[in-house]
Amino acid sequence: MSVNKDISVVFVLGGPGVGKGTQCSKLVKDFKFKHLSAGDLLREEQNKEGSQYSQIIRQHIKDGTIVPQEITIQLLKKAIIGNQEEYQKFLIDGFPRKMDQAVIFEEEVIPAKLTIFFDCSKDVMLERLLERSKTSGREDDNLESIEKRFDTFVKTSVPVIEYLDKSRHIVKKIDCSKTVDEIYADVKKAMKDII
Ligand code: C5P
Ligand code: MG
Repeated sequence: MSVNKDISVVFVLGGPGVGKGTQCSKLVKDFKFKHLSAGDLLREEQNKEGSQYSQIIRQHIKDGTIVPQEITIQLLKKAIIGNQEEYQKFLIDGFPRKMDQAVIFEEEVIPAKLTIFFDCSKDVMLERLLERSKTSGREDDNLESIEKRFDTFVKTSVPVIEYLDKSRHIVKKIDCSKTVDEIYADVKKAMKDII
């Protein structure tokens, strides 16, 4: 089965702890979007009994490095195909985080219509992550993994956002120093052509 070319895909990007998941949940409540978080799909696969990818995913998540693109793209593609009868619009949260993910996904799955980029200072992200760590139960919400995730974001993921902006012209930047509701108002404005 293949991905229906009539669906709309929005990439949702930004550093760790920036509030991608929070904003996606708000969009899902108000509009008919399917929210697919690449990180959540990877964690689910990691925990699946008998998965051949468990170990490799666990190691990358712990190290804050990027899981090989074919694993993540395969999970996303399967999730899109499984939902495309019911949904026309997809939020792909936390993806693409590396150039090969961006290029191969757009070539082999579907080109994105828009990228929402949450721009945030490292201090604010760190504060949010440490707050989240009290309840998230995530193995990578500790200082050591957080530092590694920041490092990967700057070195590996920021160039992807620049590519989507300068070569694909599909990036809308959102200032994340505001409150959740103010940010959400900006998100809706940026997405007006899709919602
Ligand atoms: O987005 P989230 O913070 O939940 O991602 C957790 C981890 O999953 C990342 O630090 C990375 O190891 C992995 N990941 C990935 N490729 C993506 C998204 C997440 O390798 N596109
Ligand atoms: Mg998330």
